[in-house]
Amino acid sequence: MLSKKVEVALNEQIKLEAESSQVYLSMASWAEKQGFEGVASFMYAHSDEERMHMLKLFKFVNERGGHAKVSTLNAPPSSFGSFKEMFQTLFDHEVMVSKKINDLVDITLTEKDYATNNFLQWYVSEQIEEEALARNILDKINLIGDDKGGLYLFDNDVKILTTVDEGI
Ligand code: FEO
Repeated sequence: MLSKKVEVALNEQIKLEAESSQVYLSMASWAEKQGFEGVASFMYAHSDEERMHMLKLFKFVNERGGHAKVSTLNAPPSSFGSFKEMFQTLFDHEVMVSKKINDLVDITLTEKDYATNNFLQWYVSEQIEEEALARNILDKINLIGDDKGGLYLFDNDVKILTTVDEGI
């Protein structure tokens, strides 16, 4: 059984994962409108991934006797300046999500909820991967800068990454 405090914190994380899905969906649309098919595919896949993160939490809350809630979501921006800025936003977003997961883990410890603590370890590992992937892409885009030819090759690279990795 979840304590009220853990249930509230898990529902906040559900909202954040749903908002993450919306952020990446908006990035997919922005990239697609500019003809960057690879980046768009990567973002669509990443958006689905975030929905999966949200659903996994959602089902856990109900399984443990809580009530998973669907909240009103904050709308993401519809444009992102440049690809470099967009991937910086993605990286910053993932760092913020990792911090929230760590805060959640802290709450489970103070509440002595070891079942939820164990469940959240999956998210701790997932965030290590997500941050590493975002950092890797950001490093590449920082090398390219605004070079059009470089961006074209980068778009192809990201497409391959999406096919191999499903954007995880
Ligand atoms: Fe679900 Fe990208 O954190």
